[in-house]
Amino acid sequence: MELKNNLFSDTGWEIYENTLEPEKLINRGSIFMVGNGYLGYRGTFAEADKDEYQACIVSDTYDKADDKWRELCNVPNGLQVKFSLDNELFSNYEAELNNYQRKIDFKKGIFSYKSEANIAGQNINLSVERFSSYENKHLLVQRHIIEFTEEADFSLELAIEGELWSLNGDHFKDYQPGVMDEGELKFSTTTQEREIAIEVIQDYQLNQKPQAEKIITKERKVAKELTYQVTAGDKLVLDLFTTIYTSNDLANPKKAALDLNRRAQKKGFQTLKTEQVKSWAELWDKFDIKITGDLEAQALLRFNIFHNIIATPVHSERLPIGARGLSCQAYQGAAFWDQEIFNLPMFLYSWPEVAKNILLYRYHTLPAAREKAERLGFKGAYYAWISGKTGEELCPDFFFEDVLTGRKIRNHFNDWQIHVSPDIAYTVWKYYQVTGDWDFIVDYGAEIIFSVARFLYSRAYYNPGEERYEFLKLLGPDEYHENVDNNYFTNYQAKHVLDKACKLYQRLEEENLEQLTELKNKISLSSEEVETWAEMADKIYLFQPDPESKLIPQFAGYFALEDVIPEVLEERLQDPREYWGWPIGVAVHTQVIKQADLIQLFVLHDDFREEVIKANYDYYEPRTEHGSSLSPSAYALIACKIGYQEQAYKNFLKSCSVDLYSTNKAISGGTFIGGIHTAACGAAWQMIVQGFAGFKYQDRQIIFDPLLPEKWQAVEFNLVVKGNKFKVKLTKNDLNIRAEQSNKSPQDFAVFANEFSLAPGDHRRVNL
Ligand code: BGC
Repeated sequence: MELKNNLFSDTGWEIYENTLEPEKLINRGSIFMVGNGYLGYRGTFAEADKDEYQACIVSDTYDKADDKWRELCNVPNGLQVKFSLDNELFSNYEAELNNYQRKIDFKKGIFSYKSEANIAGQNINLSVERFSSYENKHLLVQRHIIEFTEEADFSLELAIEGELWSLNGDHFKDYQPGVMDEGELKFSTTTQEREIAIEVIQDYQLNQKPQAEKIITKERKVAKELTYQVTAGDKLVLDLFTTIYTSNDLANPKKAALDLNRRAQKKGFQTLKTEQVKSWAELWDKFDIKITGDLEAQALLRFNIFHNIIATPVHSERLPIGARGLSCQAYQGAAFWDQEIFNLPMFLYSWPEVAKNILLYRYHTLPAAREKAERLGFKGAYYAWISGKTGEELCPDFFFEDVLTGRKIRNHFNDWQIHVSPDIAYTVWKYYQVTGDWDFIVDYGAEIIFSVARFLYSRAYYNPGEERYEFLKLLGPDEYHENVDNNYFTNYQAKHVLDKACKLYQRLEEENLEQLTELKNKISLSSEEVETWAEMADKIYLFQPDPESKLIPQFAGYFALEDVIPEVLEERLQDPREYWGWPIGVAVHTQVIKQADLIQLFVLHDDFREEVIKANYDYYEPRTEHGSSLSPSAYALIACKIGYQEQAYKNFLKSCSVDLYSTNKAISGGTFIGGIHTAACGAAWQMIVQGFAGFKYQDRQIIFDPLLPEKWQAVEFNLVVKGNKFKVKLTKNDLNIRAEQSNKSPQDFAVFANEFSLAPGDHRRVNL
């Protein structure tokens, strides 16, 4: 089945392309990437250089160079392979290719491409496989098979290339390409700012000894040139092993990279590949969702889940999930609110230990959040809008530029978009509700929640005339409207967190007095302060839905803005690259919003009446530009809730295809924002489980309220709640739930009017 030049295999486990489209270089490199949460290697060809946007992005390498933005580094490319036949250099973009295919197999976590290429008048069969080991996250493996049909001079160049694509400056200050004692290639370098040592080691295995071997060393490159005299029928098998460590990983990265490289070679390609297939089988056991009856949805879904997995540093509790994962350096390789609200839920209900890691990262970055609050004149913890390893604010003051004048725009993402803090605290509580991990709350969560409550109180303005607390000068999720007051999303999230903070304090007093006393001493917290939070929770300003229309304004004065739709604004642009938002963009004085804002709130809370949800969905939907990839999923989730089946499906496809069909801008307001949209990837899981299956966990009950798209025959997925595992299969007619034998306790369910409990090993079929 062909869809917009992407092909899905009929298993729904692979995507591939059968034609090369040079104008899609950036997108194709992203969608065919491999990764494992430690590194991401773009899906470029083995011979690619920086101008083909080749990149190997390594986590935990934040660096600031040339006075530009701090971001993750693209490290020297240890998988570069170039070859020539009779002195003609091969390039996928230049050679005549037959039966070309580039592919990624999600099931195995393996990238590959192949073709019959015509080069120097001879046909060769070329096939390349590549994976970044999930088992050992520092290892990249690549196999080339080249079959010859005629005699020729053949030369291979295996390199570690240090001329690199970088968005913000040259990140390395010394380049030491070289050769190790036993002949392995190595590339040592150090980052500009924090002097992180980066070590890349490469070695190979070949089925046929070359006639000659030569080392080539340049300032930023080391290579081995191997030459052969080949004849018809020769088949060359080259296995490349590349290992990467940095001084942030351990004390002697060079030794670690070398040892791992040697161990990997001992195992050999086949064994490593078998291990890789096994690792991914285990991952899919946790995360896979099977859809029957809709191949496009199936493939899109697995594509998104795959990317949510490879973006996530499951190996560490000190690293964030980047808004573009490890697909490139866009958004500085750092976390936004996306991490908790979009990426995390899939882990929470499938591999809760990883959700915990993600929140521990926020715990470890509390000092930086406190520093940010203090710097801006507030108390408590104000989390960074763009958060790297330490949690310091990475978001630059000037994010976009006015493309008409070239002037920079002072965007206030970094100082007015406060909702990230309550979003994190909200998620901490959610994590507890779903896992029951009270120890986490006692040891870490309480400190996050209290510190955020303290920040919210200090950031609020008490309006004495109205006797209420307000938030002035905000940016809600809709980023086009900066400097707004009482953004409903923000105020509501704040109230929720303040409430939880008070309840939590009370419970700790009753059950964990000793730990509470310790924490109170640590952060100088008093019961009087907690009372101020209770007062604020009680008196925070929340618009009431209009009694007739049921509408809630997104922020104060929203309905007074010009009422137009995005299509009209598009016509007002003088340049298609213009930024639509603050301070002079076309959307600023209108009701057109960039992304789900109020509707996103409905995703997070179940407290709203259906008539209110419906009225606001109907109102905001046509006014939403979906200028952010975070937007369509919220509309899909809410459409499911209110029975808008078609809209739900349409928005589901829109959200899941942002990357595969390359629908979103790679450059906005002069800033590169290409790469994989990991928030949308995480949301894919939510749209199925929490949207179409209507799953929620509430008052200790698992609830399903399904609404399957017309053509789906069945959906199957797994869930983990309170440490118990369930297998769910949903069809048009029934819902089947199986509780695993190893579950520790019975679980209550509610499906429409049916309420029942499942003991470990039990199974139930409910007619719908
Ligand atoms: C969106 C934000 C999001 C960020 C990173 C922006 O375009 O407006 O909501 O956090 O991208 O994904």
